[in-house]
Amino acid sequence: MTAIDDAAHSALARRIADAAGLMGDVYKDKCLRRRIGVRMRACGVHTLEEYLDVLQRVAGEAERLRDTLTINVTRFYRNPETWDVLARSALATLWSEREGRLTVWSAGCASGEEPYTVAMLVAEIARVAGRAERLDRLRVDATDIDRVSLERAAAARYRPDAAADMPSGLRERYLAADGDQLVVAPAIRRQVEIRHLDLGGDPPPRPHYDLILCRNVVIYFDRAMQERLFQTFADALLPGGLLVLGKVETLLGPARDRFQLVDARERIYRRIA
Ligand SMILES: C[S@@+](CC[C@H](N)C(=O)[O-])C[C@H]1O[C@@H](n2cnc3c(N)ncnc32)[C@H](O)[C@@H]1O
Repeated sequence: MTAIDDAAHSALARRIADAAGLMGDVYKDKCLRRRIGVRMRACGVHTLEEYLDVLQRVAGEAERLRDTLTINVTRFYRNPETWDVLARSALATLWSEREGRLTVWSAGCASGEEPYTVAMLVAEIARVAGRAERLDRLRVDATDIDRVSLERAAAARYRPDAAADMPSGLRERYLAADGDQLVVAPAIRRQVEIRHLDLGGDPPPRPHYDLILCRNVVIYFDRAMQERLFQTFADALLPGGLLVLGKVETLLGPARDRFQLVDARERIYRRIA
């Protein structure tokens, strides 16, 4: 393929994403084209032009393309070491400093396991400190672009394998069995507010946070979008607040100067400016 062909393909891929109601320009080119390729094969078409035509004619295709682009695999206590580090040091310190008044944003929360995990972790910190009642001071905003995932998050019912990585104490205290499913304890659910938000354009739900988790989300975004988002996170974090990215994601761009690395392996950063 020539460079001109390649540019034309990218432009068309972005038009397709726009037509599907996605902000085409925030996704990595390769990622976008690979996912469109998945839908092209499923629809039995061979060119982007043909696919654009299908997208405009076939009811439900835009939604199916959106689903392939917003992969939402997640689980409770995903990457246990990250949660262990947070609970042992950074988060526990913040909790003490703020006397339990923590505001947390789980940006790209998928079906809710991540925001519920952070609420459970804070509940544990409060319980161990003998201040269980301070859990009520916690606010967790859980946001995602995918409405189907958000419905699952609101239902707060999961298959047992979603909790396979959790320490048993946490599982026993904060998840209850109901038939063949697990249900999140009401005290944990109360602290979590679920809402729709597109990181490509919507502002943060509130102006100030102590902790922002944005894990396994920016990996799909192009560099310019990542840089913009990291600036948004720096602006939204209180001084001393923490940012946690996914294990294969790295803070980049001008916002790097506004953070100090807390834990390189676990991708935990502290806002310093
Ligand atoms: C792999 S999941 C990550 C879930 C959780 N943070 C974790 O690490 O387990 C990625 C999530 O990012 C969401 N996402 C993708 N693009 C988004 C956007 N523009 N705005 C908000 N969420 C987005 C997807 O819908 C999906 O639920």
